[in-house]
Amino acid sequence: MTTLVARNVWRFYDGKPAVQGLSLEVEEGSAYGFIGPNGAGKSTTLRILATVDRPDAGRVWVRGYDTQQKTEDVRRMLGFMPDPFGMPDGFSVEQFLEFFAISYRLAPVRRKNRVERAIELTRIGERRRDKVTELSKGWKQRVLLAKTLIHDPSVLLLDEPAAGLDPAARIEFREIIKTLRDLGKTVLVSSHILTELADFCDSVGIIERGRMLVSGRIEDILDRLNPSDMLVFEVLGDPERASGVLAAQGDVREVSVETYKANEKTRAGLVKVVAALEGRSQPARRAALLQALVEAGVGVTGLTTRQEGLEDLFLKVAGKGGGAAERFSVDTMRQLLGERPQARPEPKPEEAA
Ligand SMILES: Nc1ncnc2c1ncn2[C@@H]1O[C@H](COP(=O)(O)OP(=O)(O)OP(=O)(O)O)[C@@H](O)[C@H]1O
Ligand SMILES: [Mg+2]
Repeated sequence: MTTLVARNVWRFYDGKPAVQGLSLEVEEGSAYGFIGPNGAGKSTTLRILATVDRPDAGRVWVRGYDTQQKTEDVRRMLGFMPDPFGMPDGFSVEQFLEFFAISYRLAPVRRKNRVERAIELTRIGERRRDKVTELSKGWKQRVLLAKTLIHDPSVLLLDEPAAGLDPAARIEFREIIKTLRDLGKTVLVSSHILTELADFCDSVGIIERGRMLVSGRIEDILDRLNPSDMLVFEVLGDPERASGVLAAQGDVREVSVETYKANEKTRAGLVKVVAALEGRSQPARRAALLQALVEAGVGVTGLTTRQEGLEDLFLKVAGKGGGAAERFSVDTMRQLLGERPQARPEPKPEEAA
């Protein structure tokens, strides 16, 4: 079932469009990463999805309910964590959550259960008696997520929940979101960093200047952008022969050689010969290529399949400035990948020395 559907949503501020004809679909129980640079229109879109704001045109449905006609029903299903969200002075974590449980008019027993469950899911038990305003940013964000969970919503809309967190806190937050997804909740989470979401989202949408550039299941997007796999053969000694054998195979598009870093002593004498295939890597094809290498006398010590991830593909597409996703701007890609620690390619031998 499709839990969240937006169709041709527009929102103008002072005559300028912040969201332009945006459509998206989020499947039930999936995690959708909504990614775009600053000012792209993420928060505007989330506010509209959350019924906090109304679109100037277009429609949104949550589990089949039109958000503008069935606003109250929709709100019961939604948990919205806006960015940023203030916290009241003087409340402990427990009191803060209790306050929201009361505001949802939950009966006392249910209220207590919901508060406990939210504390458990967001792993904030050890801070339950601390004042919310005195918590660090990472803990605050977890308390805000707990607040978002109080009425047990089935759909979560989280606007940059991990922004401003240090790496450890980000990882922790990501784990919590994964748990929620695994509990069957539908999660839409925004970020301006692609890599932050790519590893646990089933689907992504990339927004730039109010327009959705691409949206859908990650698998489908990858297939569309690059329907081929790379096989990495680890070979002993001279890679020339292995490269020659692989390049001569009909279904190999390109062959390249990669060396290990100089400090990887256990890899001494080994090189990686990478074959980019036409299409996907099937077991029979892998077996046939291995056999061809062995028959040619190449010492093969290992074989792995390297599937390119979203970030690799986006970089590639941005670099080429063409192909299936030519509308991606290079600047946007740089920004989205901005916090990536190091470019992926292994250093060349002279750089590594
Ligand atoms: N209340 C508002 N009044 C006027 N303009 C606004 C308002 N809210 C957003 N905008 C404008 O709409 C555009 C989209 O803003 P939005 O906050 O949705 O982007 P965003 O993707 O969430 O950015 P960020 O990553 O910085 O949070 C921006 O140009 C912004 O200046
Ligand atoms: Mg925002």
